[in-house]
Amino acid sequence: MKLNSGTLLITGGGGYIGSHTVVQLQAAGYRPLVLDNLSNCVPAVFERIEQISGQPVELIEGDVRDSVLLERIFSRYPIDAVIHFAGLKAVGESVQQPLRYYRHNVQGSLTLFEAMQRHGCKRLVFSSSATVYGPAATMPVNEQAPLAACNPYGRSKLMVEEMLGDLAAADSDWQIALLRYFNPVGAHPSGLIGEDPVGVPNNLLPYVAQVAIGRLPQLQVFGDDYPTPDGTGVRDYIHVMDLADGHLKALQALTDGHGCVPYNLGTGRGYSVLEVVAAFAAESGRPVPYDIAPRRAGDAAISYADPTFSRQQLGWRASRDLAEMVRDHWRWQQRNPNGYPTE
Ligand code: NAD
Ligand code: UD1
Repeated sequence: MKLNSGTLLITGGGGYIGSHTVVQLQAAGYRPLVLDNLSNCVPAVFERIEQISGQPVELIEGDVRDSVLLERIFSRYPIDAVIHFAGLKAVGESVQQPLRYYRHNVQGSLTLFEAMQRHGCKRLVFSSSATVYGPAATMPVNEQAPLAACNPYGRSKLMVEEMLGDLAAADSDWQIALLRYFNPVGAHPSGLIGEDPVGVPNNLLPYVAQVAIGRLPQLQVFGDDYPTPDGTGVRDYIHVMDLADGHLKALQALTDGHGCVPYNLGTGRGYSVLEVVAAFAAESGRPVPYDIAPRRAGDAAISYADPTFSRQQLGWRASRDLAEMVRDHWRWQQRNPNGYPTE
């Protein structure tokens, strides 16, 4: 039976990708119930979602590692499926604090899946990452490529993917989509919700946006001697609204006999750092000064998806181009130069 409506538990639904997905789920007629410990989002995001959708967000403030709380949630609500975003995501931090990453990302996932199993809720969409392909993969990469993680964050995603594969092999009632995101960027076109990194951003787009708005003096381009057309790293940037739509399509694809299936969510097209900088300067009308710096440890030269399988199986494809990603990102940045209000 197709899941076209119903109650969904959205862990980490206050975060960057979760908040955009909640908006799209509400618009599509689902009832998303958010479980978030607010470690990387602020309550204002839920008011903004309501401003966009006209519907309040049902928030349960709590931790996905809390099995007593999960027991209460699954006993109280008729949950049809879970989208599991909650977790930690900074690669560098994961190298410094591996146990914290395994606790949140692996133990948190395990606690959640056990609660789902106890309550017979066996439909799941899991936030994985293209990082599971490892730096040696040939591009464009498809879902059959060998997997390899090169840092604790990536390993935590790989461990959960493997755990879910074992679960689906043991019990064919489980219907699981592993969504391997490429590089999510952009924001809702209203400019009301977007990515709000704490401190200095690690990722390219938020960094460039803060340079353009004047919060940071200039970008460091990590390496211009890669074997790419202009020497800078190439990535598959994907609009967060396209990514959100991919979650709806994945949910709808969960039917009997689905098993545990990985899907790439990328556009299939790569852009270099300098192309992104040029697009941002053009859309914002602001200069984006930069310096060439040494390569960042652990970076691959090129990463982009082969999205054929997702197109065929989910009927999904990304439709927003780089100009739209940058325009929406810039609108969010301009309207919220310091991110969400914290009071
Ligand atoms: P985010 O940090 O913006 O959102 C994560 C949300 O989960 C936050 O609201 C945070 O408060 C919450 N959270 C964290 N730990 C929790 C816990 N133990 N219990 C309850 N809530 C908890 O991150 P995002 O960018 O929206 O990413 C969402 C998911 O997608 C993550 O699993 C991330 O690893 C994965 N992912 C993200 C990217 C990316 O570039 N943003 C790329 C690939 C995969
Ligand atoms: C990073 C993570 C990856 C994660 C992904 C999610 C690392 C090593 N990898 O990937 O695990 O899944 O985010 O979005 O952190 N760049 C600069 N200057 C900057 C920032 C980035 O030149 O200040 C370059 C990078 O070298 C890279 C490109 O911009 O070529 C994109 O970088 P980033 O946004 O950090 O994403 P990834 O490295 O692809």
